[in-house]
Amino acid sequence: MTEFAVGDTDFLLDGRPVRLLSGALHYFRVHEGQWGHRLAMLRAMGLNCVETYVPWNLHEPRPGSFRDVQALGRFLDAAQRAGLRAIVRPGPYICAEWENGGLPHWVTGGSGTLVRTRDEGFLGHVERWFAHLLREIVPRQIDRGGPVLMVQVENEYGSYGSDQVYLGRLADLLREGGVSVPLFTSDGPEDHMLTGGSLPGVLATANFGSHARVAFETLRRHRPTGPLMCMEFWCGWFDHWGAEHVVRDPGDAADALREILECGASVNLYMAHGGTNFAGWAGANRGGGALHDGALEPDVTSYDYDAPIDEYGRPTEKFWRFRSLLAAYTDGPLPELPSAPASLGSPATVDLTDWSPLSAVLDALGGPETERPVPPTFEELDVDRGLVRYTVDVPGPRRPYPLTVRGLRDLATVYVDGEPAGVLTEDEPQLKEPVAGPARVDLWVESLGRVNYGPRTGEPKGITGGVLHERQYLHGVRARALRLDAFDTGVEPVPFRPLPASGAPGLYRGTVTVRGAGDARLELPGWTRGFAWINGFNLGRYWSVGPQRSLYVPGPALREGTNEIWLLEFEEASDPPTLRATAEAGEAGEAGEAGEAGEAGEAGEAGGGD
Ligand code: GLA
Repeated sequence: MTEFAVGDTDFLLDGRPVRLLSGALHYFRVHEGQWGHRLAMLRAMGLNCVETYVPWNLHEPRPGSFRDVQALGRFLDAAQRAGLRAIVRPGPYICAEWENGGLPHWVTGGSGTLVRTRDEGFLGHVERWFAHLLREIVPRQIDRGGPVLMVQVENEYGSYGSDQVYLGRLADLLREGGVSVPLFTSDGPEDHMLTGGSLPGVLATANFGSHARVAFETLRRHRPTGPLMCMEFWCGWFDHWGAEHVVRDPGDAADALREILECGASVNLYMAHGGTNFAGWAGANRGGGALHDGALEPDVTSYDYDAPIDEYGRPTEKFWRFRSLLAAYTDGPLPELPSAPASLGSPATVDLTDWSPLSAVLDALGGPETERPVPPTFEELDVDRGLVRYTVDVPGPRRPYPLTVRGLRDLATVYVDGEPAGVLTEDEPQLKEPVAGPARVDLWVESLGRVNYGPRTGEPKGITGGVLHERQYLHGVRARALRLDAFDTGVEPVPFRPLPASGAPGLYRGTVTVRGAGDARLELPGWTRGFAWINGFNLGRYWSVGPQRSLYVPGPALREGTNEIWLLEFEEASDPPTLRATAEAGEAGEAGEAGEAGEAGEAGEAGGGD
């Protein structure tokens, strides 16, 4: 059994110095049928280690009810089979452009700003979760020769808080749960982040995209000894809906990687392969500078990240540059690339067969209707991903007045007496046309992803204030929730009917016949915003604002012959979508105009921002 240790200057494997050449790959962003291929790509790039986060909210959707926690263990087994060691970052907060930074909505809904502190209520939830998680992986993947070398405590905690008691308690929980391998923290290379986020006696690492020498000098001021590691080398960046596609020049990224390696440091490429935010799990930022208190910036479905291995699993120019750099730091020749996954044989157009209006979908798959004086939040209605229909009556008779939603998050499609009346946002929360009474107002409010970084992490979704007519609160609000996971068991309860004449919102069902199943992308020109499923597999959100133009369809989600498609459209549908081969695509994620990563790679603004 190998022994991994943190030495005075190096990591030690069985007493010998070792450099960790690691790459981030999140098992929850890659179809399980493709783990093997992607891990082999990491090896072929010259990496000897894979790093993954663990998203608590994916695995504990409701308190005490767990969903496929075993996936982490299966992934670590696959990593070991691929000849890779592993680093695990179990949070409980993970940032990662993931819904709520990985915190369950039922935790943030109850704990508010007490999350990520020593608060006993919050820590109690963490304690139960960690105990459950560690029971799964400690015996096999950490003890008895498993691949896990190190485990992270929290995530960039110094970018958020200063509760050393909390950090210490987390480290204790990991130890008590049987984690015998070294622990570490990771933070931006700045004094306040390192003092807030690191723990005495626990290895400190730094996250940055460039200027390695300066970053490591800062780290050294705090830690005179210990191996140097860049735990997140941001070799690309992520995209927001409605903003420019972000890229990082491959030559510039390679230069920054060379500088890290020349410092004698270990590295974890963030991301080596980003994958996809399937099933509406993408998170969101708040813009507005260091305080991150500005406009909501929801993350797109693709997590291509402009990484060396693109969303479709293909090597990019960055891959080849990194590979030739890393080759100098590995013993012997690098393994060949695995053969590329099959790409769809020929394009296929979806045959839309039937449809159901949103209200009928809500009746069939939604939760019970509740009535409250003021609108309940998504948290109060127990909704993680999905939407809520709020219905409120304007009393009458009364003359037309402006209708405004206070505390709207994130977006409301509004109907007055059944007629479309506009789409409201945080920035424009008032209907263009005044509303006369009496009238019935339906507001279909969508979550575009919970904030995963900064002081507003974990803020509630839905209507967090109220609905105003002129200055008057409209009381007596009926609310009914549609959780996305209601679709996990199929759409049989939905009463489908023939297709509408117009492109009305609703749930569309259809089939697509595939000859030569393989990796594909779903193109939906003219569709506005919603979710797409293929054979029950949720491909994620589509949205005409771009920059993402098509959804990745992993080959293993398709089958030869007939495949069933569902499209849940919230505004306006269009012609039947088309499945195309990924091989035909230029950039993964089919982004439009590209903008440079700019300060994305700067050491100054550490972490998760925008
Ligand atoms: C930080 C976080 C990561 C991720 C990156 C940006 O470094 O630790 O989880 O959010 O920012 O991609």
